[in-house]
Amino acid sequence: MIDRDARVYVAGHRGLVGSALVRRLTADGFTNVLTATRDQVDLRDQSEVSDWFTANRPDYVFLVAGTVGGIHANNTRPAEFIYDNLMIHGTVVHSAYETGVRKLLYLGSSCIYPRQATQPITEDQLLTGPLEATNQWYAIAKIAGVKLCEAYRQQYGCDFISAMPTNLYGPGDNFDLESSHVVPALMRKFHDAKLGAATGEPNEVSVWGTGSAMREFLHVDDLASACVFLMDRYSESGHINVGTGVDLSIRELAETIREVVNPDAELLWDTSKPDGTPRKLLDVTRLSELGWKPEVALREGLESTYAWFLAQRHLRGVG
Ligand SMILES: NC(=O)c1ccc[n+]([C@@H]2O[C@H](COP(=O)([O-])OP(=O)(O)OC[C@H]3O[C@@H](n4cnc5c(N)ncnc54)[C@H](OP(=O)(O)O)[C@@H]3O)[C@@H](O)[C@H]2O)c1
Repeated sequence: MIDRDARVYVAGHRGLVGSALVRRLTADGFTNVLTATRDQVDLRDQSEVSDWFTANRPDYVFLVAGTVGGIHANNTRPAEFIYDNLMIHGTVVHSAYETGVRKLLYLGSSCIYPRQATQPITEDQLLTGPLEATNQWYAIAKIAGVKLCEAYRQQYGCDFISAMPTNLYGPGDNFDLESSHVVPALMRKFHDAKLGAATGEPNEVSVWGTGSAMREFLHVDDLASACVFLMDRYSESGHINVGTGVDLSIRELAETIREVVNPDAELLWDTSKPDGTPRKLLDVTRLSELGWKPEVALREGLESTYAWFLAQRHLRGVG
């Protein structure tokens, strides 16, 4: 177990995952959680990152920063997705090595696996086939992050591990329709339709694709719990999947979010838009065998996420 007084750096602490990790570490009694904003350290810049590591000397690092987004953002900003992520992974891993960090956990993503991976996806399917084209830029950078950790372990003996989470959602998520993932995007659309209906507009929501794609969703508080669990107990070269092991169709997801946010809304399917990978379910046998399991049920997690979204808007004085 990590000493609760150790210096623990969360890279990307204002994001969905990073903020959940800070909450979790604080709740678990960690007394030395280190953070730095983008203005203090641009994680793409090796000299800024090296200076920060030299000055702050973290013992443990959770590398959960990155340029992240849904299909639309990936398609329209491919250069940012590949460059930012390659650089962030490279600088942080290298500085962690140079300053003798005891252990680093790198967070990848389930989109690193081939588009046609056999379901559920086991860890050993990495690099066995072509990627989904819509997010290939991001996926290539994420695969490079996994390989960086393996290379620094092999050449320098660094205890750097990688975890591959499935799709995440929860408080702290990005609800901007231009760059959000499916759960916050649907929540925002149903919310906006509810507001529009109050002023006489049609209470309807259009969703990309046919609704048939199957996806798995993990609450970010569960991911944070898994990350701390792995930092405490996992020290192997290979990456490890983190998910619930259960999926549902985008149609079922949209209907559940409709029930939570705006039960009277009509759901329309824009079949001219892509569905993305037909199915993406992680095999979580390895993590389960280590003794970890998720705790937040999807419906309950969606309700609390919507409550968080409403509270944020209330604080900002918007509807
Ligand atoms: N969200 C998901 O569904 C999902 C699924 C699987 C894996 N992941 C992985 O989880 C990790 C975190 O994702 P997330 O959803 O928490 O993303 P997020 O909410 O967008 O947060 C990303 C964080 O990284 C920081 N960051 C980005 N570029 C930076 C830079 N150049 N310098 C300093 N900080 C920078 C951001 O800082 P600012 O606050 O200043 O913007 C933010 O705090 C990523 O590695 C992602 O691949 C996410």
